[in-house]
Amino acid sequence: MADGIPITRNPAAPEREAAIRAAVRGAVKLRESRLARPEDAAALLALFTDPAVHAPIYSLPRPLTEDTVRAFIEDHVRQREAGEGLLFVTDPGDGRVLGYSDFQIWPQWAAGEIAGALHPSLHGQGTGTKGAAQTFTWMFDTLGLDLICETASLQNTITQRMLDGMGFTRMGQVTSTRPDGTTRDSLVWEMKSADWPRQA
Ligand SMILES: CC(C)(COP(=O)(O)OP(=O)(O)OC[C@H]1O[C@@H](n2cnc3c(N)ncnc32)[C@H](O)[C@@H]1OP(=O)(O)O)[C@@H](O)C(=O)NCCC(=O)NCCS
Repeated sequence: MADGIPITRNPAAPEREAAIRAAVRGAVKLRESRLARPEDAAALLALFTDPAVHAPIYSLPRPLTEDTVRAFIEDHVRQREAGEGLLFVTDPGDGRVLGYSDFQIWPQWAAGEIAGALHPSLHGQGTGTKGAAQTFTWMFDTLGLDLICETASLQNTITQRMLDGMGFTRMGQVTSTRPDGTTRDSLVWEMKSADWPRQA
């Protein structure tokens, strides 16, 4: 995922790091979302194909095809086994995927990042802010992280407003590299577990 993040890197004690890896390996559900499976590739591709979803997200496969999306899912299955990543989908049971959450975990720093999107029909109704707040609480309290580090493109006003509004601290700017090697500038925010208001 992003180069140069997290900005804050406090080494976790070995037993803490092991507990975080175990929590990641044991994660199977996140509210109404379930782990992504290789057979979700076509439905996930349909979600990713909308520019309102893929344009702001540097970590999605490029080019976007059913094969690259399946490989993206399979890579996350391996990341989960290593205790370093998770991919969840919101599956209403009608063949569509209405959202996804992609977790990058750095157990050695007790830190993590989440990227994700809602189906465009759900944007701008407060759903993202509510869901993100619940997910941040889950990352701190269930995965056991001390730090969440988030990025957004300079154009991604919605995510910027969301993170500023939740009290995340702006930490500067980094260059993020996409899977095809192209880059984009990203603003960076961090939140410590001790400072998170747990309003969710
Ligand atoms: C990012 C995302 C999950 C946010 O969810 P959402 O439900 O659309 O956002 P919300 O309705 O909770 O709005 C969040 C903030 O953006 C503002 N906002 C919403 N739509 C907006 C728009 N079109 N223009 C400007 N601001 C907007 C809201 O007013 C709110 O700010 P406020 O709390 O200061 O009022 C969703 O928009 C999405 O999936 N976007 C595409 C992918 C993406 O950008 N992912 C994040 C980077 S990984």
